[in-house]
Amino acid sequence: MASIRPEKNRARVIPKHSAPVLPKRRAPKIPRRCASLLLMAFVPAFASIASAAEEPVTFTRDVLPILQGNCQDCHRPSGTNYGGMIAPMSLMTFDDARPWAKSIAQEVSSREMPPWDAAPIHNGEFSNERTLTDAQIETIQSWVRQGSRRGRTEDAPPPREFKTTGGWMIGEPDLIITMPEPYWVGDDVYDLYTGFPVDLTEEMLPDDVYIQAFQCKPGSKVIHHFNGHLLAPDEDGKLPPPPTKFESDALSPRGAGVYIGGVSSGTDANIYPDGYGLPLKKGTRVTFDIHYHKEPGEGTGVWDQSQIGFKFCKKPPRSALTGMGLFYFNINIAPGESDYKIGPVPRKTSRDLQIISLMPHMHTRGKAAKFEAFYPDGTSEVLLDVPNYDFSWQTVYYFEELKFVPKGTRIEYTSWYDNSPEYAAERGFDPAQRVKYGQKSSDEMMMGFVMAGPPIDGAEPPPETTGGFYE
Ligand code: HEC
Repeated sequence: MASIRPEKNRARVIPKHSAPVLPKRRAPKIPRRCASLLLMAFVPAFASIASAAEEPVTFTRDVLPILQGNCQDCHRPSGTNYGGMIAPMSLMTFDDARPWAKSIAQEVSSREMPPWDAAPIHNGEFSNERTLTDAQIETIQSWVRQGSRRGRTEDAPPPREFKTTGGWMIGEPDLIITMPEPYWVGDDVYDLYTGFPVDLTEEMLPDDVYIQAFQCKPGSKVIHHFNGHLLAPDEDGKLPPPPTKFESDALSPRGAGVYIGGVSSGTDANIYPDGYGLPLKKGTRVTFDIHYHKEPGEGTGVWDQSQIGFKFCKKPPRSALTGMGLFYFNINIAPGESDYKIGPVPRKTSRDLQIISLMPHMHTRGKAAKFEAFYPDGTSEVLLDVPNYDFSWQTVYYFEELKFVPKGTRIEYTSWYDNSPEYAAERGFDPAQRVKYGQKSSDEMMMGFVMAGPPIDGAEPPPETTGGFYE
C-alpha cells in the first residue's frame, strides 16, 4: 500500500498575524493532519516577490470562484459541518479570506483542503468529490505569491447564496424527530456513547413511506458522531421492549436495527438519487446513536437535544435501498505494528444491484481502505481506493453514475492500519497499546458500508422489500 504522507508528522505553525482566534472545530482529542514544514519554508520566501512575467491573479476574478465552488460549503458562517465540526473560518469574502491567504496556499498545495481521501484515479466518479485541479492550486499559489490582491469589484461573481432552512442541509424535512428529553452531558464527560430510542407513533407517521433524504442534526457542539438506526415492527406491528441500557462497546446500540448513516466531520447529507428510496415503515423505532466527546472540566457540561429529519419520496420510488456492512471484529494490532492488514471481507450479491454509495470506516490507526468487485465473468474492478485514509473525515462516497454490479458479483473490502510511533505522533494515539475492536477512537474498527438497490429498468416495478440482496 502507498505509505502515508510523511510531511504530516510536523507541528502546525500558523503565522500569528494570520490567525484570528476562532473556536476549535472538533473534539480536541483527535488531531488534525498538519501542514507541510517544507511548504511553510518556501511559501513565505516567495510571497512578496511577484514574477514580472506572471499573469496577474486577483481575488475577485480568479480566486473567489474557486472558493465558492470548493470551500464555502463548509467555510461560511454556519457551514454544513455541524455539531462542533464547523470549519474554523469563513471564506466568503476578500476580507474573510485575506488573513488566511498563506494558510490557504499551504492547505491546498498539500491537498489537505478541500478534504477528500479517495485516490486520484476516482476523480470524476463521485458526485460529492471535493478536489482542486492543478491549475486551480496554481492560481491560488500565484495569488499569494503576488501579494494576495483584491482586484476589481466588478470582476467578482455574484456571492453564492445558501438557503437558510434552519440548519437542514436536505431542505425542510417532512418529519422531524426530536430526542424526547434534553440530555445532560456532564462536566466529567470525555467520551460517552449512548442511544435514544423513539418509537414512531401513528400521529408522527400514519403510513409506510420511503426516505429520499435524511439528516442527523446535532443539538450541541459536543457531538463527535451521531448515527441513525431503524428497527421496523414485526408482522403484528410489534417492537421488542426498548433497551434499558445502551452498552458502550456494542457495535451500535443493541437491537437498534439497521444502521442508515449519520453525521461526523466531513460528511455530506444523505440524499438518494431519483427513483431510489429507503423504506420507513410506520411504527418503526428510530434510534439516535450518539458519541459525545469533549474535554472534561468544571463548567464544560452542556445540554443536548438532537434531531433527525427525514424527507420522503414525493412519488413511490422504483427501487428500495438496503445498507450492507462488511465487518471484522477479531482485530488484534500489536504495539508498533506499522502495516496491519484486515481482509478482504467478501460478500456475494444474489441479484443485480446498483450501488449508490460506499463508506470505509476505521479509527485513528486506519491508513488505507479498498472496495473491489469481482464480476461473474471473471473480471474485477477497484470500486473505491482510499490510499491515505484520515479518521478526521468520515466521507460517504456517492457514485455520480450509479455502479451496476450483476448478480453473483463478489464485493470485497480490505483495510490497513498503522500502529507505529511515527503515525502515532501525527494522529495522536499511543503506539504502545495493543489495539482491539471497540467504539472508542483509541480502539479500532473494520467496517465497509455499501448502500445499494435493484436497478430501475424501463418498466415501473413495485419497490422491492428490503434485504435479500446478498447471499
Ligand atoms: C468538508 C468541509 C470543508 C471543505 C469543503 C473545506 N474545508 Fe477547509 N477546513 C474544514 C475544517 C473542518 C477545518 C478545520 C480542521 C482543523 O483544523 O482541524 C478546515 C481548515 C482549513 C484551513 C486551516 C485553518 C487553520 O486553522 O489553520 C484552511 C486554510 C482551509 N481549511 C482552507 C480551505 C480551502 C481553501 C478550501 C477549498 C479549496 C477548504 N478549506 C475546503 C472544512 C472544510
